[in-house]
Amino acid sequence: MLGSFSYCNPTKLYFGAGAVEYLNDELPKYGKNVVLIYGAGSIKKNGIYDKVCEILKANGKCVTEISGVMPNPTLNKLYEGVDTARKAKADLLLAVGGGSVCDYAKAVSVSVNCDDDPWEKYYVRFEEPTCKIVPVGCVLTMTGTGSEMNAGSVITNTDTKMKVGHVFASEEVMPKFSVLDPEYTLTLPRYQMAAGIYDIFNHICEQYFSGEDDNTSDYIAEGLMRSLLHSSRIANKDMQNYEARSNIMWTATWALNTLISRGKSTDWMVHMLGQAVGAHTNATHGMTLSAVSLAYYRHILPYGLKKFVRFAENVWNIDGAGKTDEQTAFEGLSAMESWMKEMGLAMSISELGVTEDMIEKVADSVLVLTGGYKPLDRDEIVKVLKDSL
Ligand code: NZQ
Ligand code: ZN
Repeated sequence: MLGSFSYCNPTKLYFGAGAVEYLNDELPKYGKNVVLIYGAGSIKKNGIYDKVCEILKANGKCVTEISGVMPNPTLNKLYEGVDTARKAKADLLLAVGGGSVCDYAKAVSVSVNCDDDPWEKYYVRFEEPTCKIVPVGCVLTMTGTGSEMNAGSVITNTDTKMKVGHVFASEEVMPKFSVLDPEYTLTLPRYQMAAGIYDIFNHICEQYFSGEDDNTSDYIAEGLMRSLLHSSRIANKDMQNYEARSNIMWTATWALNTLISRGKSTDWMVHMLGQAVGAHTNATHGMTLSAVSLAYYRHILPYGLKKFVRFAENVWNIDGAGKTDEQTAFEGLSAMESWMKEMGLAMSISELGVTEDMIEKVADSVLVLTGGYKPLDRDEIVKVLKDSL
């Protein structure tokens, strides 16, 4: 490992069936004003809302609600939540939902006591919080983003058509605690389960496809990918399989909680391309990633050939004997393509609503990062998007 780094992850996790009861240990640590944040209402249908409210009540909390946090939460919704949390004098923001709800809670947490406009400060200038941050706790109901144990927060500005993620450097932004009960994910629709699985897989890829050194993070990444492939195939056939869903949930957390990026530059261009597609279509995050991935990876493969060969052999069990490195590497991507189709993922951006005449505008929304094997220029971005149609 040639890079130097620090490592600290302060989020406390409670994992397993019935883990929500640990809220009884956590809630007494915070003041009485809790703002309960959730989405469009899935938690009311599956009983999670009732259970959480019962525990909040038993702990004597004064609860204010922010409901209707949408997938791909918007800036206007953030302004609304900041206002509610200020009025409620929030001591704790309790997010109950998927990555959108957790991300949103973090955005509110750094904005409640901030005088600046949060979009300008955090999502345009990428500054760190300089105000007091309201603590966030999560009860996760959808697995994929890793938001339960990281400092990332993605917000969409529907006016400027920019979907921007800020991964805060401050550990203070990470949730103080997260409850991970795999049973809570059993009510997810198949489409969301599949999108979450691909989101996890791609988080690992984004960190794996960078660097040339022999790095422990890459070995951990390969182990996580193998576990995910195994469990995803079981869950795809039997969605109610607790063992598979629990492995998927745990893999998601470790895929993006800063561990496997240690000592790496990391790529993240599939996410930049996917987020641009998301900003123009409001499509489901994981599906925007699957739709652009193969075109992107086939494009950069020659620049990171050694790693793509290793990916083929160690993750997809491709036997490289008697083949050129290029053949082995491309076979790895073909195996990945078969698995993606098996999972029912979006394989093109046309499926998500992008048409050829939108390509230039989508390209305008792509932020270019340079940590991967080949920084993309404008022509390459357009080519990858066209190849993804
Ligand atoms: O709103 P409700 O009714 O709760 O329905 C949600 C939503 O429609 C539903 N759902 C969640 N749990 C459920 C359930 N339905 C039935 N049963 C359950 N147990 O699922 C839908 C999608 O939820 P959402 O939270 O949007 O999904 P996800 O967890 O994939 O989060 C996506 C957001 O996270 C961002 C994405 O860009 C996107 O905005 N990301 C955050 C990251 C981070 N913090 O590090 C990194 C990721 O790369 C990603 O960018
Ligand atoms: Zn993602």
